[in-house]
Amino acid sequence: MCGIVGYTGPDEVLPILIEGLSRLEYRGYDSSGVALLDPDASGDSSDGGLWIRRRPGKLSELKRVIDDVPAHARLGIGHTRWATHGGPTEANAHPHTDETGRLALVHNGIVETFAEIRRELIGAGVTLKSETDTELVAHLIGRHLVAHGGSLVEAVRIVMKDIEGALAIVVMHADFPDSIVAARKGPPLVAGLTADAGLVGSDIPALLAHTRDIYVVEDERVVEIRPGRITAWDLEGNEVVLTPKTITWSLEAAQKDGYEDFMLKEIHEQPATIRDTLVGRTEPGSHRLHLDDMRLSEDALRNVDRVSILGCGTSFHSGMVAKYAIEHWTRLPCEVDLSSEYRYRDPVLDARTLVIGVSQSGETADTIEACKHAGHWDAKVVAVTNVVDSSLARDADAVLYTHAGPEIGVAATKTFLAQVVALETLALYLAQVRGTMKPEVTGELLAELHLLPDKIQQVVDQSDEIRKIAERFADRRDFFFIGRGVGYPTALEGALKLKEISYVRAEGFAAGELKHGPIALIEPGVVAVGVCTKSFVRLKTLSNVQEVKARGATTILIANEGDREAAEAADVLITVPTTEELFAPAIDVVALQLFSYWLAKARGTDVDMPRNLAKTVTVE
Ligand code: G6P
Repeated sequence: MCGIVGYTGPDEVLPILIEGLSRLEYRGYDSSGVALLDPDASGDSSDGGLWIRRRPGKLSELKRVIDDVPAHARLGIGHTRWATHGGPTEANAHPHTDETGRLALVHNGIVETFAEIRRELIGAGVTLKSETDTELVAHLIGRHLVAHGGSLVEAVRIVMKDIEGALAIVVMHADFPDSIVAARKGPPLVAGLTADAGLVGSDIPALLAHTRDIYVVEDERVVEIRPGRITAWDLEGNEVVLTPKTITWSLEAAQKDGYEDFMLKEIHEQPATIRDTLVGRTEPGSHRLHLDDMRLSEDALRNVDRVSILGCGTSFHSGMVAKYAIEHWTRLPCEVDLSSEYRYRDPVLDARTLVIGVSQSGETADTIEACKHAGHWDAKVVAVTNVVDSSLARDADAVLYTHAGPEIGVAATKTFLAQVVALETLALYLAQVRGTMKPEVTGELLAELHLLPDKIQQVVDQSDEIRKIAERFADRRDFFFIGRGVGYPTALEGALKLKEISYVRAEGFAAGELKHGPIALIEPGVVAVGVCTKSFVRLKTLSNVQEVKARGATTILIANEGDREAAEAADVLITVPTTEELFAPAIDVVALQLFSYWLAKARGTDVDMPRNLAKTVTVE
């Protein structure tokens, strides 16, 4: 996710911005930039009185192009960009300017009505210099100022009030030489003050070197930051009171936003992740999906007669969930395969096969090569990835981004949920385009999709209770995870999480398959974790639970509130909210992530960097 920093005060601004941006590097980024107010520029200078430098790549790349820094520059804004609209190029890097060149803006988030605003601005004769949604916001604010005059605060407020999407923005203008204006609709923003300076950033670490007095900007607020002073308004223009809090955490703890580890932070981010994955693709109350951002024509999708999903590790599991959804909703045959196997097994495919390569990083060699292999047979390849312009995305015919933000914990959590939701959105879109589902049914499913973030939150809120359960099992060595239907990939993902971070033996099985072999391993001391949420095979799973219980296993069941049968079969019960059966993995797996996390913590392992594993595996 993008990083933002801004400063106005008595000190030289550039080193402050660079230091602040370096404190936000943990968020992940692919380009960076700064804009400084040049106090010596004449009002009508060709660069609008602003000095701007931007570069793709790491901050070190930006530092290489820093020359002729205006002397005495005391106000500026900086940005690390994690690409969403448009690849990581210099033209797309922030800050962006308006037509006058006197306004510069940085942004974290996504403008939902991007296509519409872009059309309107081009129609009004604006020449756009980038492919970003951010530049559009700079133009909107700049044009408002030119047309109506008034203050920068007012122009920002009016534009923010109207615009749809997730936005944290910070704006500077050569005509307002000592103030920075910031506003928030969704993504976080914090401000900080010293006696003679004002700072703003997307996260506390960017400010900590200068102040520990932090103002958390509330949602739907506009703030003006001047040296030693900060003023805030709501989007109606009413002034509101801001109260500072004193931060006592270390810098490292601040990067984790107060959580013990990145993994725990990322688990807690999941409700917001799902909202971000859905932004711009479906609105609450709508019966239709828009996946225009994927850039694959409806005709191409109608021509498909078979789907193959490829992935590794966690991405393979989200692909398994999608197989159930695609077959059920579209009636297209769908296979899911491990990327490392697919490529070498002479798969059957042709130009009518839709191949979906799933990869958080977009750099996994096995998946890249498997998709290339499919491409040689003229199959249409869609990449489902979290990283814009990754190798997988570049090679594919179309891309569906998961918009989960960077994931730092090696064990995937929020990206699994984002993949499940993105893939199921794609499945629904296929059904919509191919006419295999009634619009009212699509509408009902979309309405349920919008409820997922709140339901996931209810599971996250049980973290403490799940911790107590996990601690009781910290000395067990053998865990079986079982489920049927989409509960099966959920069980596989639960087992993968546990083994990855706690190093205990944890295996996932289709519950119905136990009796064909694995049940031989069941004995007292073994823990069986059953995924038993609402499904037409729930009672069958519960019978399989009884089979392992009868052989001495301790049972921990994930079930819905009020499930009497599950309560009776469970030695330990974890209840989660009910949802549409095919969406359940996005809720149920959160309980398993928390169980694995707390069990690993109790065993004292390094959950963010487990032994022998790498976040991105670029070798076969
Ligand atoms: C590595 C990671 C796993 C991940 C897998 C696939 O093995 O440790 O957590 O699921 O790669 O990664 P991808 O980036 O392709 O989703």
